[in-house]
This record gives sequence, structure tokens and C-alpha cells, in this order.
Amino acid sequence: MSELEALRERTVGLESDLRRDLEGLSAPEAVEAFRIEFLSRKGRLAQLFKTLAILPAEDRAQAGQLLNALKERATAAFGERRTALDKVASDRSVLREKADLTLPGVYHGVGHLHLLTQVQQEIESIFLRLGFDVASGPEMETEYYNFEALNIPAHHPAREEWDSFYLEDGRLLRAHTSPVQVRVMERTSPPVRIVCPGRCYRRDSQDATHSPVFHQIELLWVEEGLSLANLKYVIELFVHEFFGEGYDMRLSGDFFPFTEPSVQVHMRPRGSTRWLELGGAGMVNPAVLTGVGYDTERWTGFAFGFGLERMAMLRHRIDDIRAFLANDLRFTTQF
Ligand code: FA5
Repeated sequence: MSELEALRERTVGLESDLRRDLEGLSAPEAVEAFRIEFLSRKGRLAQLFKTLAILPAEDRAQAGQLLNALKERATAAFGERRTALDKVASDRSVLREKADLTLPGVYHGVGHLHLLTQVQQEIESIFLRLGFDVASGPEMETEYYNFEALNIPAHHPAREEWDSFYLEDGRLLRAHTSPVQVRVMERTSPPVRIVCPGRCYRRDSQDATHSPVFHQIELLWVEEGLSLANLKYVIELFVHEFFGEGYDMRLSGDFFPFTEPSVQVHMRPRGSTRWLELGGAGMVNPAVLTGVGYDTERWTGFAFGFGLERMAMLRHRIDDIRAFLANDLRFTTQF
């Protein structure tokens, strides 16, 4: 067999291997491996081209044509196959990413302030307009501020009204916001005009209007010449601002060791027969003023402590205080 014959046979063998392997290509890595094996600078086709050098000179032109034709076919076949494979791959990824525009979108809800926070801020802003400051005090409180400084000595039966959660160090979770009155007066010389919203804790069993954790808003005004009439006016003004028309309010006598006289404030939607207790109020007991070093001959004061949940319940017709603690979006998103 002549050298040329042998080369011809090898091109036929190479082409049949090449077409078979091309047929079996699928993975992108295999495509590159194929190119390296057959078409790269050191690949099988290039090896054949090298044999041109050892052919007799008269055969070289023919052999060259043979190899060039094979190279053209091989390159074209490879190119076609690669394009086809690329298309399959890109079709697949399009399919995977294809968006179904008829599906509902993903809703990222915009949050808002909880009803209690809204109510608290609204009440603060009413009193800020009336010239009050917003004060605050600790939720972990001493017995002194929660009781004694408010004229409730140890063993006084009134302590039972504020059945409290005690901490190991003898402090307690404040049962009302009234301790803040004393804390503010101790560091301020009169006149004093503050409101103090805040969380309170009591060992009250839970029912529709009681919760062991709840909020109050405290008000304290110390000034010369204040009377119960001024207190009533401020409460009425506030109630009118906050609730608007359509409510009845009632003051009745009550007892708190830190106010004298003391009243209780009840409200109800006009037409309803059920009164809801908002809180207590009264003229600050001179014993409390004396305790913080105020001259009771000159200074008089009044105070109230209202339940925030109760106010929100009344205005928004919420009939069970437990809704505030349930953390149920169906409730919180209504307001
Ligand atoms: C007091 O706590 C007094 N410190 C109020 C006060 C302040 C009187 C200043 C005079 C001067 P009382 O225990 O009544 O009072 O509570 C006041 C209000 O807090 C209640 O009317 C109610 O609205 C709310 N409240 C009390 N306990 C609870 C509770 N367990 N759950 C929800 N709200 C409560």
C-alpha cells in the first residue's frame, strides 16, 4: 500500500470516529474534550497533517486536498453540533426561568404602628399641645416609689389593690404609673405638668377587661390654686379630644391613698348601658407633696391614671382586652 493509500484509510477511520463521537456529545464539558481530541493543535487531525511531511513530494498536493477537505467537514460538523447543543441548553434555562405572569405576586406587606402605640402617641400629642411634657420611669420599681411615697405604707390594706409581681432583689414590676409622679417631683421644682404613658403589671386574673400586663397613662399637674374643677375640665377636654362626640362620661367618688378627694372616671358610648372604668383621679394628697419637699401651703396638684387598653377598646369597640396580647394579624391590621 502506498503512503497515500495509507493516509486515505486513516482519514476515513478518523472521520468515522469523529462523526460517531460527535453524535454522542451532550454535556458541555464533553464538547470541549471532543474539540481537544480531534480539532486542537495537537489533536488527531493535526497529527495527520504532520504526516504530509513524510509523503513523497508528488503525493503531497492530493493528500493536502484530502486533509483540508476533511478538516472543513469536521469543523463544520462540530460547529453545527455545538450550536444545536447550545440551543438546547439555553432553551432549558429559559424554560426554567420562564415567569408565569398570571401568578399572583409575592406580597410584602407594609407594617404600621400597633393600635396601642397609635393611641399612646395620640394622647401624648393632645397633652403636648396643652403644655405638658412626656415623662417616663422604670418598669422595675422599688416598693418606696410604687407604694410608700404614694402614701401607702407597708401593711396598708390598699396594697392589696395593687397585687404585684416581686423581683428577687425586693423590687417589683410597677403596678401603676403613679410612681413616676414622685420621681418627677423629686427632681423638679413646681410648677409641674407631665403625662407618662407606660406598661404596668399586676397579678390580676385575665378576663375581658383585665390583663396582667397593661398600659396606663398618668397625668400630673402641680400649680398654685388648682381645684377639682380644673381636674374635671382637663379630663373633659381630653375625653372630648380623644373620643369625639357620642360618649358619656361619669365621675364618682373613690379612694386612693395618694389623692384626696379621689374620683373614678367611667365612660360609655352614648346609648350603651355598660360603663367602662377608665381610671382614677384626684387632687394630689398633701402627704405626697410634703414627701417630695413641696410647700403645701402654696402648691396644689391633681393627677389621673387611665388605662390605655381601656381607652382603645372603648373608641374602637373592642370587647376583649386579650385581643391586644394575642398578636394576631387579623386584629392588628384592622387599625
Ligand atoms: C391606679 O392605678 C391609680 N394609680 C390611678 C390614679 C392615678 C388615681 C393618679 C389617682 C391619681 P386603678 O388601679 O384603678 O388606679 O387603675 C387605673 C386604670 O388602669 C383602671 O381603671 C384600668 O383602666 C387600668 N387597669 C388597671 N388594672 C388593669 C388590668 N389588669 N388590665 C387592664 N387595665 C387595667
